[in-house]
Amino acid sequence: MEPIWKLGSRGIAEHPSLAEDIEVDVAVIGAGITGLTAALALAEAGQRVMVLEAATVGAGATGGSTGNLYATLASGQAPLHRKWGDQVAAEVVRARAEAVDHIEATIERLGIDCQFKRQPVYRLSMGDRQHSRHDLNDELDALVSAGLGAEMTDGPGLPFDSWGIRIPNQAQFNPLHYVQGLASRLLDEGVVIHQHSPVREIDASKGLVRTNEASIAAKHIVQATHTPKGISLVQAGMLVSREYAVGARLRSGEYPEGIIWVLDPFHSLRSYRHGDEQYLMVIGEKHKTGEHHEDYYQKLRAYLESHFDIEAFTHQWSAQQYGSPDGLPYIGRMHGHGNLYMATGFAADGLVWGTLAGTIIADQILERDNPWQARFGARRITPGKSALQYARENVTVTKHMVKDYLGTEKLDTFDVIAPGQGRVATVDGDKLAIHRTEAGELKVLSAVCPHMKCIVHWNPSESTWDCPCHGSRFDTEGEVIEGPAYHPLAKPEGRA
Ligand SMILES: Cc1cc2nc3c(=O)[nH]c(=O)nc-3n(C[C@H](O)[C@H](O)[C@H](O)COP(=O)(O)OP(=O)(O)OC[C@H]3O[C@@H](n4cnc5c(N)ncnc54)[C@H](O)[C@@H]3O)c2cc1C
Ligand code: FES
Repeated sequence: MEPIWKLGSRGIAEHPSLAEDIEVDVAVIGAGITGLTAALALAEAGQRVMVLEAATVGAGATGGSTGNLYATLASGQAPLHRKWGDQVAAEVVRARAEAVDHIEATIERLGIDCQFKRQPVYRLSMGDRQHSRHDLNDELDALVSAGLGAEMTDGPGLPFDSWGIRIPNQAQFNPLHYVQGLASRLLDEGVVIHQHSPVREIDASKGLVRTNEASIAAKHIVQATHTPKGISLVQAGMLVSREYAVGARLRSGEYPEGIIWVLDPFHSLRSYRHGDEQYLMVIGEKHKTGEHHEDYYQKLRAYLESHFDIEAFTHQWSAQQYGSPDGLPYIGRMHGHGNLYMATGFAADGLVWGTLAGTIIADQILERDNPWQARFGARRITPGKSALQYARENVTVTKHMVKDYLGTEKLDTFDVIAPGQGRVATVDGDKLAIHRTEAGELKVLSAVCPHMKCIVHWNPSESTWDCPCHGSRFDTEGEVIEGPAYHPLAKPEGRA
């Protein structure tokens, strides 16, 4: 099943893939909200821009998101305030509110049909009021001190008892239709968007980007790939997670309005209308990429069924997040290169961070001042605020390296792998990722992640090979789906 946002989606006209070398001012890699926001600002300022996208416009996290736009963070304003204090917490809210306004103004200016609507955020507890009041009071104080007009409220007409905080004047839209609108405008501006064109190498010192077929010489290279490609310092402390979404139609009862975050455990609910049909979706069951134990879609379906009268489940999808060690995104010029830019560490809030990132990076390239570039700079070092997550993530990588290299099962025959199953095993000393399709065909790949040599794990919910170290993911043919790896999983010689 596909994301709900594909309903009514027309996609973007395909350009033939790049067959010969070319020169541009700016090569933007990645056609999500970050890349296309940057590309549009640059093209409108007269730069010669080319966009290279491994899949299709919006096919990454942007098209897998929930389409909620808000000035606070989904993880809470209070934790941000505790880590960074009054001034930075208020700056985050101001920068993000400006980015939401930028999206609204762009939609109006370009006439993008993506159901943008101002809506409140609700952060709700279902628990005992006496018991949990304290946490929500802290959250309310932090929101108000950051300049948001938040207030305590009862739940917004949900079929279960809830109470909590309401933040007015946030927004929702269809994220895929929005970025397709940006892409259409770029095509009108004469920008070429090459879809199905994965970048396999960036040589920033020579100003070169290479795809399978061609080299692009560029004065500036923007890695709008959600996490930078190849080996980068920022990956060492990044918490990489997957989160799941399920869409459904109700048999009876109201579709709730607004951005609804139900705490303990965290579930995000929202409604969406397409034509005459309305849908309710739930997002949740976050876990570290590469660590899979449960049927997360089934858990979300059960959650919806326990609270709503469900007629049918209609959609399901999942997407990835990169949480930075100090809680703020890394945006802009990278260490060591004046011509190479990145945008990562958006956690669950990247439609807004991505928009801000697109404008910051465009301003850096155009040599314009941007009030936010220093605060969210990609070169910042904040050991006091990052050390804990750095330490945790490095322990995780080491643990996987040791456990997965030493502990992989030995297999004498592939017959034990049932249709639909995937297993990592040692065969004749090689670490192999072995999958049998539902039709019985065996697909054998190297299990060694080409990024930094961790061992991939089978993800039964998505039928993919996921790396637990920095979040590279591969399909059953071995091709990269996302993450820092440039290259597919190797196909061992002489295997099926
Ligand atoms: C379940 C879920 C729900 C979310 N909901 C929200 C929400 O409601 N609100 C919010 O603000 N944020 C939300 N987020 C976060 C948000 O979706 C992302 O942070 C944001 O979309 C990132 O945008 P991006 O453009 O940086 O990355 P992406 O949208 O992932 O775009 C990167 C693009 O780069 C391409 N690419 C990668 N490698 C290459 C290569 N080698 N060559 C060429 N192209 C390449 C990819 O194919 C992809 O299209 C959610 C995240 C998850 C997981
Ligand atoms: S993603 Fe880094 S080793 Fe696999």
